[in-house]
Amino acid sequence: MYSLLKPLLFWLDPETAHTAVKWSGKIIPLTLLSSLTRFESSRLSCQIGATVLKNPIGLAAGFDKNGDMIDFMGGLGFGFVEIGSVTAHPCQGNPKPRLFRLPQDQSLVNRLGLPNSGSTAVAKKLFHRSCQTPFGINIAQTPDFALSHPKKEKSSGIDDYLETFAKLHAYGAYLVLNLSCPNTSEGCAFEQPKVFSDLARQVAATRKTLGVTKPVLIKLSPDLKLPDLRKTVEISLAQGFDGFVLTNTTSSRVGVRLRSHQIDQIGPGGLSGKGLADLSNQQIQKVCEMIDDKQMIVGCGGIMSATDLMTKLALGARYFQIYTGLVYQGPFFIKGLLTELDAFCQKRGVKNYQELVGNKELAREIGTL
Ligand SMILES: Cc1cc2nc3c(=O)[nH]c(=O)nc-3n(C[C@H](O)[C@H](O)[C@H](O)COP(=O)(O)O)c2cc1C
Repeated sequence: MYSLLKPLLFWLDPETAHTAVKWSGKIIPLTLLSSLTRFESSRLSCQIGATVLKNPIGLAAGFDKNGDMIDFMGGLGFGFVEIGSVTAHPCQGNPKPRLFRLPQDQSLVNRLGLPNSGSTAVAKKLFHRSCQTPFGINIAQTPDFALSHPKKEKSSGIDDYLETFAKLHAYGAYLVLNLSCPNTSEGCAFEQPKVFSDLARQVAATRKTLGVTKPVLIKLSPDLKLPDLRKTVEISLAQGFDGFVLTNTTSSRVGVRLRSHQIDQIGPGGLSGKGLADLSNQQIQKVCEMIDDKQMIVGCGGIMSATDLMTKLALGARYFQIYTGLVYQGPFFIKGLLTELDAFCQKRGVKNYQELVGNKELAREIGTL
């Protein structure tokens, strides 16, 4: 069915196609959708903190920035949805065009720049709505705050995160601090360990004051080099954070076959999808060597097939997130992945997929070690 719909969606510019999908979520009855796309098996159930998930595949941040589509995405088979990035103040994002398809590489380049309706509006929405699908909230710093709010004093980036954290901590199954926003001028500041150290300390203190027991994760860039990555992980562990979302998009273009003039034509932005997978996997592998199994890894970046997902599982990811794969493979993609993962567990006599997290034998079989 998606093979019929995809040419039409791909004929539209990417942001219009996204809006069309969003509207279809309001029209298509959830029960009909679920009956076509859902797949359930006890072999795939798991927990994030105290929240039970039907399966470990989540929608990555950026698709449902304001939490408008949580149950629709649950209807597509996702076990959880990460909303956001939400920033303290509303944000328009960068000028269009800012989202590009690279079909030959099954990748996207985006420089959206965190458009979202801001923490107050999102908190209000979540307060008035009860969702059946578990969700997490991804928090980032308001970009170009001084430019978009010239009359207000410049926000310290840390205050900005703390404000959103305080407004949204009561909602959802987990929270994520997004340190890696390659498409905003301030977006990478917190990737410097010194700057992150202050943020981490203050968020940890606020978390304690507010009594937040749900998991708080850190989302990192695939471009963070080993010394800074090591320091960032050390700081996160010292401040009691619960794990990592690995990874955000990459500023590099090493994973794509585009010619340099095509790269120049598109301009800057974060690359996602197939062209990101290797970089993302390398980051998972490195971080897994620095942590123990008390911390959780959400593997995100270039999952376009069940083998891609199992690669991340074998490397040490307990949960998985997808954005670009959904754009290229369509609404039955999640059901397909779940069916294959379940069959794989059954064949190996595994009662729950979590027995395979970080399984070296599996990694060797898939060829990742
Ligand atoms: C259009 C677009 C917008 C995104 N916006 C955000 C965002 O607001 N916050 C965030 O943490 N990640 C954002 N991401 C990154 C995704 O959450 C994910 O980390 C990345 O796309 C890699 O996964 P994928 O290869 O499955 O797409 C965005 C990705 C895309 C393609």
